[in-house]
Amino acid sequence: MDGVERVAAVLLGAIVAAGLIGQPAARAEEPPPVWAYPMAAKGTVPPPDDGTVRRVPDSTQGYTLTQIRDLFFALDWRPEAHPPMPSIVALGRKPNLRACGSCHRPEGVGGPENASLAGLPAAYLRRQIDDYRSGARSTAVPARAHVFRMIAALNELTAAEIDQAVGYYAALKLPARIKVVESDVVPTSTVPNWYYTPKHDGTTEPLGDRIVEMPDDEDGFVNRDTRVTFTAHVPRGSVARGERLVAGHDAERVPACAGCHGDDLRGTDEIPPIAGRSPSMIVRQLYEFKTGLRHGAMAEPMKANTSRMTVADMTAIAAYLATLPP
Ligand code: HEC
Ligand code: HEC
Repeated sequence: MDGVERVAAVLLGAIVAAGLIGQPAARAEEPPPVWAYPMAAKGTVPPPDDGTVRRVPDSTQGYTLTQIRDLFFALDWRPEAHPPMPSIVALGRKPNLRACGSCHRPEGVGGPENASLAGLPAAYLRRQIDDYRSGARSTAVPARAHVFRMIAALNELTAAEIDQAVGYYAALKLPARIKVVESDVVPTSTVPNWYYTPKHDGTTEPLGDRIVEMPDDEDGFVNRDTRVTFTAHVPRGSVARGERLVAGHDAERVPACAGCHGDDLRGTDEIPPIAGRSPSMIVRQLYEFKTGLRHGAMAEPMKANTSRMTVADMTAIAAYLATLPP
């Protein structure tokens, strides 16, 4: 062995010892935190429409369950609460372009089952639409059909319709509506559709390492009332742990967030706000950056930032971020 070979052998030994090679594809990823992707059990049949006209507080409108479930119609309980919707947001276009507002709501508040679009920077919204269309953004749980329904919708948008949808949602403001509660147990929950709700049988179940986010008023949520608030049950100690990570106290593993996302974590012209948004949605995004399921035009910094995060880190970060005002 000459000097160079010896150095190379020593280096190789160090690399193998560090486990960087020798274990194909490096360390196996942690499996997706499926609790952040709730789905009804196979074969769950939604209750039939009994024809009742449903109402919500402070609205003169009334809708049946069939109208509420129609994805080509954005239920609009309070038309005075937002600017006029572009037709693509209100109605979409059959057969594939389901109305943005049917899932993300006319006010853009979304729900834990999708994402809030209100107040996202226009450049960011546009980039996400491009990334979904090019295949650079996907989901870790492909059985969540509504992501693919949306991608099918996005694929049909004309350039002018993208401008309309982006302009509409970027101009709205996201209200605060998430309460974070640390606990060891949570009311025993069930997943009727894409969301958790308590079973209302008086029992509890261990929360474990999950975040379980539930609407405070399930009827209001089913009726898609945009004023419904949510309680996010998060593991004990996670808020303080998340705050330290977000502030960069363990920066070798998890860099501070404010440098890019803004001092108040409410985003910039290019970079999305992360404060006060659905914590299960934040966990999904961090996991998807880490595993390369989000590898779009500007995903590189987040792929690096998440590369050493564990799912437990993501959970703590999301718990803390949800306590901040949006
Ligand atoms: C069938 C329901 C559905 C429809 C219709 C829908 N979306 Fe979505 N959208 C989703 C889901 C679900 C997600 C979040 C996926 C996840 O958890 O990663 C999402 C996420 C997004 C995001 C990413 C937000 C972020 O913070 O990164 C954008 C942007 C978006 N949608 C835009 C639109 C636009 C524009 C339309 C109308 C053309 C639309 N969506 C229609 C379900 C829908
Ligand atoms: C070096 C700059 C940088 C730093 C530091 C950074 N981010 Fe980001 N982050 C970005 C960019 C850029 C995007 C948009 C990515 C895209 O468009 O695909 C983003 C997007 C995100 C998203 C997706 C939001 C959504 O609506 O889907 C989350 C969540 C996020 N960052 C969380 C964090 C957290 C938590 C931290 C700190 C631990 C952090 N980021 C630190 C640059 C950064």
